[in-house]
Amino acid sequence: MAGGGIVVAKLGLTSPLVGEDTQSTAKDLIFHTTEPRNGEPNLTQLVQSWITPVKHFYVRSHAPNPTIDINQFVLTVEGKVKKPLTMSLAQLNRLTRRTITATLTCAGNRRTEFNQEGKVGGVQWEAGAIGNAQWSGFSLADVLKMAEVLEGAKHVWFEGLDKIQRKESIIPFGGSIPIEKAMLGGDLPGTLLVDRMNGQALTPDHGYPLRTIVPGYVGARSVKWLGKIVVSDMPSPNHYLAHAYKVVKSTDPIDWTETGPIYRYPINGAIASPEPAATIRPGWLNVSGYVLPTGRPESKIRRVEISTDDGLTWQPAKTIDQSSTFCWQLWKARIRVTRDTQSLSLRALDSSGGFMPQSVPWNAKGYLQNSWYRLPVKVTRR
Ligand code: MTE
Repeated sequence: MAGGGIVVAKLGLTSPLVGEDTQSTAKDLIFHTTEPRNGEPNLTQLVQSWITPVKHFYVRSHAPNPTIDINQFVLTVEGKVKKPLTMSLAQLNRLTRRTITATLTCAGNRRTEFNQEGKVGGVQWEAGAIGNAQWSGFSLADVLKMAEVLEGAKHVWFEGLDKIQRKESIIPFGGSIPIEKAMLGGDLPGTLLVDRMNGQALTPDHGYPLRTIVPGYVGARSVKWLGKIVVSDMPSPNHYLAHAYKVVKSTDPIDWTETGPIYRYPINGAIASPEPAATIRPGWLNVSGYVLPTGRPESKIRRVEISTDDGLTWQPAKTIDQSSTFCWQLWKARIRVTRDTQSLSLRALDSSGGFMPQSVPWNAKGYLQNSWYRLPVKVTRR
């Protein structure tokens, strides 16, 4: 299944990564692992701006970044299409350039909160596996129209050029999305084949030279280092769609097979300031954070609320900055804290009926944690 027609240069750095500049690749993240690279920003820094600077944008990779020879790079499109394509970056660049702003979030964001009930494996994400960026590239729908999709096509597979060691074999990261989502375009922000992030060439961490961005879906569907697209009547057999990234009670084979893949993300949010376990005085307190509406195009945040008494009473928070389809909203609140306050809780509601519940059932892989976000605080006597 490895990258159709793509030449991946050996790690000898014989071909420099064109477009890479050392400043824009520098990261200011808390790394959980460095090989592969998995890091998230400090939350207070994260909510400083609606557009997340690349240095504060989380990285989630299953293998070390592949080194790709830009001169040899091609994207192939095959499967249920009348005209299979092999496109260089120059050829892609002749298509209409499209730009969207969208939030990317990992299905494992806030995973550590599940550990209170039972330890979950995987990268131990706090609430920083999320970011909002401007993505620019080419419409997947435009490319599929060029390839002329045949009748019976139901899913579009994406395959990366990374090499992930899994048991005895080496596999690429991959997945698929339903054809209806893949063909979206026009007024709705559709899936993009992206080569630029926040106005600069993608950095190696974020999938240079090409990745998908699937607005409204969990980050796992936005495949980095994209090398191959396959149109099929079936979902992708790649491990990261067929087995991983599912909400399962146990890691039992039956559970895996019976459960469908995660696509759309649910509403979510977090308190970014004050810092966890901060010592504060009774009285007025400024609080801020982010909320992300359910990954549906019509979804808008309707209400954001904070509780200082574990959900007995709620005080309103104000959304600030922009509100845009498939994007998070930042919020702030000025709330009253009493001597009895032990934690701050956040909940939110959106226009498509999504809400952050009081708790979510534990699942073995720690996905889609979107319960009330609770932040422990220490309040001084005066
Ligand atoms: N694509 C490839 N090829 N390899 C990966 O490991 N990780 C996925 C997705 N695409 C991954 C990938 C996951 S789980 C997430 S959450 C997003 O990339 C993270 O994108 P980012 O690192 O640009 O933030």
